Amino acid sequence: MRKIGITTSKGGTGKTTTAINLGHGLALCGQKVLVIDCDAQRNIAVTFDVRGKKTLCDLLQNGEVEIIQVRKNLYVVDSGGRDLAETEMMLAAKKNRESRLSRALENLKGCDVVICDCSPTINLININALAYVDEVIIPVSMDYLAQEGARQTLEIIEEINQYSSNGTQVLGILPTFYDARTKLSKEVLETLRKHFADTVFQTVIRINTSLREAPSFNRTIFEYSPLSRGAFDYYQLTEELLNSEQSQAISGERRI
Ligand SMILES: Nc1ncnc2c1ncn2[C@@H]1O[C@H](COP(=O)(O)OP(=O)(O)OP(=O)(O)O)[C@@H](O)[C@H]1O
Ligand SMILES: [Mg+2]
Repeated sequence: MRKIGITTSKGGTGKTTTAINLGHGLALCGQKVLVIDCDAQRNIAVTFDVRGKKTLCDLLQNGEVEIIQVRKNLYVVDSGGRDLAETEMMLAAKKNRESRLSRALENLKGCDVVICDCSPTINLININALAYVDEVIIPVSMDYLAQEGARQTLEIIEEINQYSSNGTQVLGILPTFYDARTKLSKEVLETLRKHFADTVFQTVIRINTSLREAPSFNRTIFEYSPLSRGAFDYYQLTEELLNSEQSQAISGERRI
């Protein structure tokens, strides 16, 4: 089972869009995918128009959760919205507060991929998510501040690895909101590739209006506009991810 976090400390870089469309892309390729919404905004649950009776809050507090099927092969855990703040305060007073999610999901079976969609903050919920996952995708939008967000996230992962035994790896930095018409996009992508080399995905997610519109129709990009650039880019990312799994299996080591 692959456990992937989608995280960065900057807001609005395409984390949730990536969790939803990569999740559905993998599900369409036959993988059983669970997406855990770790953000009080509940954007995943809102996109699929579902509400969990037992949410991430319950999972962290007493190990109970409702896993909601939203599509063939695709399942979701609702974050619990604003209750998540209360859960975080409750966690703060507990022992092993960083590994509550790992322990709650210890016996999870039957899934090929778990994706955690994080919020752009450094809080105990995200620390739990990062301690649970084995790999992270860091979406970086094509502006200067997003690169700073990526750098901070890499630092956080390093810090978390100091007290978590599983050693979270960076699966890749994902360039998002790429606009070929602007000089800034080209410059930022060049800088990313120069600084982070192979850690940057080959796939680049371009700006695409359909990606912005799809959630308001409760659809993923593959349902809302399957021939759009957004669908093409997320399909490419899905393939890149599946191939990275294959190469790991062949070489017996991680891509990065
Ligand atoms: N490639 C894209 N082209 C156009 N719009 C996009 C693209 N990716 C995401 N969006 C839109 O940009 C907004 C922010 O994206 P998203 O919610 O995925 O970011 P996020 O990183 O999860 O944000 P937050 O930090 O608030 O959780 C959303 O309205 C989304 O539909
Ligand atoms: Mg989000």
